[in-house]
Amino acid sequence: MRGYDAVKRVLNGEHVTAEVREGGEEGEGGRRAPPPSHHQRSSLSLSPQVEWPYAIRELLGPGSVSTTYHADHRKLRQTLAPAFAPRAVAAAVPHIASLLTGHIQSWIEAGPGLGGVAAAKAATFHVVLTVVMGFPPSWTTPAALADMSGLFEAWLQGFLPGRKHLAAGLAARKKIVAAIDAATSPGVAARRAMPADDRPPPASMMDRLADAVDADGVPLAADRLPTIALNLLFAGHETSAQTLTHLMRTLAARPDLMERLRREQAAVVAEHGPEVTASSLAAAPLAAACVREQLRTVPVVAQLFRKALAPLDVGNGVSVAAGEVVVLDLEHTMATDARWEGEAAGGPLDPASFAPDRWLSNSPDAKKEGAFLPFGSGARMCVGWTLANAELQAALALLARTAAWRVHAPGAPLARPPAPRLPVDGLVVTVERWGGWEE
Ligand code: HEM
Repeated sequence: MRGYDAVKRVLNGEHVTAEVREGGEEGEGGRRAPPPSHHQRSSLSLSPQVEWPYAIRELLGPGSVSTTYHADHRKLRQTLAPAFAPRAVAAAVPHIASLLTGHIQSWIEAGPGLGGVAAAKAATFHVVLTVVMGFPPSWTTPAALADMSGLFEAWLQGFLPGRKHLAAGLAARKKIVAAIDAATSPGVAARRAMPADDRPPPASMMDRLADAVDADGVPLAADRLPTIALNLLFAGHETSAQTLTHLMRTLAARPDLMERLRREQAAVVAEHGPEVTASSLAAAPLAAACVREQLRTVPVVAQLFRKALAPLDVGNGVSVAAGEVVVLDLEHTMATDARWEGEAAGGPLDPASFAPDRWLSNSPDAKKEGAFLPFGSGARMCVGWTLANAELQAALALLARTAAWRVHAPGAPLARPPAPRLPVDGLVVTVERWGGWEE
């Protein structure tokens, strides 16, 4: 069985799998697959890891999107969905682009030696905070963004193995939840005090959550809303920031692609004008292809965890007993799937290489939607994937139009899992204004 088929089957097989965070000490006593060799590694293997999911569950807290199950989960997803519908995201593109423009400008003004990872996080945090959550501007001053980023960094440390890390992460969680509650609870209470028919249409995710009811028709408990907001803020900025970091790192080493991206944007501006809109993003297939290819080659969510609820045959002679944990290796699946082989305009394609042209070729072999899983699949598929795509394409369009950057240590290694796989130096860059073809 191909990796993609196995992974997709498990992700979509709700009747036999459940999110690993649901149970207690999952995986204990579980059968372990023999360690796969480099060449024979199966993209589906049994996990000996038990602490990581436990820490994730504790750090997110009960009642978040990721830690809600069954009917309650479906209901919550329905509440969130309108904010991420393609039309809503398309309408938000100019706003997203204006926020990103301000950040790119500040990167240029920062001069030599900017921390690229931190800069990308501040930008994507600003977007999700403002565009999705609708938090007040007092949250998005540079000082407030830095404070909240610091708290999220401390919270993220809780994902590393060990009780000390978890305790520090949980302490940061308390502060984040308190801050979110202080910023949002008056608005939620005021909205809930109005008869439902008199409420203005929801203008933010917090409005949607204020209006929402759970699977039994009861309004969501007020103390649950900050937990849901924390989940969205985390999932909505960390992943996009990491992908943007990788994109900047990749493209700094590919002047050929940068030149093509700049030419593409020059044509887009000539046809659509200077504003970055959904139409201008749609007119830039190379930028979209670079984003997809970055997500494929370095998926920032590299593995997903599922627990078998019933005995599960996953193919390749591997079966999983009820209660065992399955690790789905998205990275390996996407890097090796034979459907990525084939021809693009430049010649044969190596599945593991960064080759955006595989998305542009007219050859049916080169365009393979099938094996593309950076956002997962099934009932738990990323709720914000439409926003992430638009945000990353907008960032790339703006960078190609206005900036040139140099990575100080292009060979800096990536941190090893379970730490996020980011350059260990934080991607030190110098960003300069790029004046366009006329200069
Ligand atoms: C490059 C950016 C992103 C990547 C690669 C990514 C990836 C993923 C993946 C793989 C999952 C599935 C987890 C699982 O099956 O266990 C997921 C879930 C989720 N994502 Fe994203 N994501 C990104 C951006 C976003 C954004 C922008 C938001 C919201 C603003 C978001 C919100 C969520 C939420 C709430 C879930 C949990 C869904 C559920 O459990 O039903 N993500 N994401």
